[in-house]
Amino acid sequence: MTVKEETVAALEGKEIKFFKLENSHGLQAVLMNYGATLISLFVPDRQGQLADITLGFDTFEEYLGNNPYFGATIGRYANRIGGGRFVLEGKEYQLAKNEGESHLHGGIKGFDKVIWEAQLVGNSHSAGIKFHYLSPDGEEGYPGNLDCQVNYLLTDDNELHISYLAKTDKTTHVNLTHHSYFNLAGQGEGDILGHELQIWASRYLPVRQGLIPTGELAEVNGTPFDFRQPTKIGERMDQVPGGYDHNYVLDHQGVLNLAARVFEPVSGRLMELYTTEPGLQFYSGNFLDGSIKGKAGKIYGKYAAFCLEPQHFPDTPNNPHFPSSILRPGETYQSLTIFKFYTK
Ligand code: BGC
Repeated sequence: MTVKEETVAALEGKEIKFFKLENSHGLQAVLMNYGATLISLFVPDRQGQLADITLGFDTFEEYLGNNPYFGATIGRYANRIGGGRFVLEGKEYQLAKNEGESHLHGGIKGFDKVIWEAQLVGNSHSAGIKFHYLSPDGEEGYPGNLDCQVNYLLTDDNELHISYLAKTDKTTHVNLTHHSYFNLAGQGEGDILGHELQIWASRYLPVRQGLIPTGELAEVNGTPFDFRQPTKIGERMDQVPGGYDHNYVLDHQGVLNLAARVFEPVSGRLMELYTTEPGLQFYSGNFLDGSIKGKAGKIYGKYAAFCLEPQHFPDTPNNPHFPSSILRPGETYQSLTIFKFYTK
């Protein structure tokens, strides 16, 4: 394992750093302390040829511009909270509204836009970065000082582990996730409609206007949302107005389990996602429209990438029948996601 660190800029009196991790098979991950972001992930194809399989930018400065959360850590609450409000222990909290009437991905200045402290971690067969951020009481409208850790670990088994820990001093809601945009053919190499996707979920959350869940846990059976068998992402796209942007109710919840598998037939790259989270947002890159120029000058058009974001369900604070996202003083929020890479 090797780790290289580089200071690339300064912001708010702090150094912005890139960290390049490489395992013994040549897999490389590039991380940044701004947003605790995964900038690049170089993974071999079936010929051993490396390609960067996540969308993003070459320079730190570009992350400050038009950036739909490329590779970022999302918090305090991933996905949407309807009306940007919730009632907790009898008190109403109004959060920042940054998408129409909703609160999306932690608000105006979410965890993707803050500078995290970084510390190198690892051993003989893994290397990574432990990121730390203390979110002050009231930030973006949330109660409690929230002490957060996000650990990225690249292993010699071709796994990228992302684990989360959080503690609070007032009862609050927490839902952290990772927001990489993947294209297993290589970033900027066409669209992902030919990727085969499998999701271990028999139910999903239908949405109403503003992509807020209706509250129903609907069966995928007989719908274009059924990915229980490997299916090309584009196969039923014409039956899903606006494209996929839905949360799946994972069949196995609360323990680390295989949640999704994606295969790209031309390169032979295969990615598995394991998580302890109850939900998985599948977003097919519908809002990418060719207006963003990313790494190596690549233009990111519609469906240029997919996101699979392990998380608690959107708008849980307003849906008491969803698995709870409440964190109380004295409790520890814990979550683990593993991305594992193979070729076939
Ligand atoms: C959401 C999309 C959103 C994207 C970028 C995804 O997590 O599901 O609706 O456009 O993030 O903000």
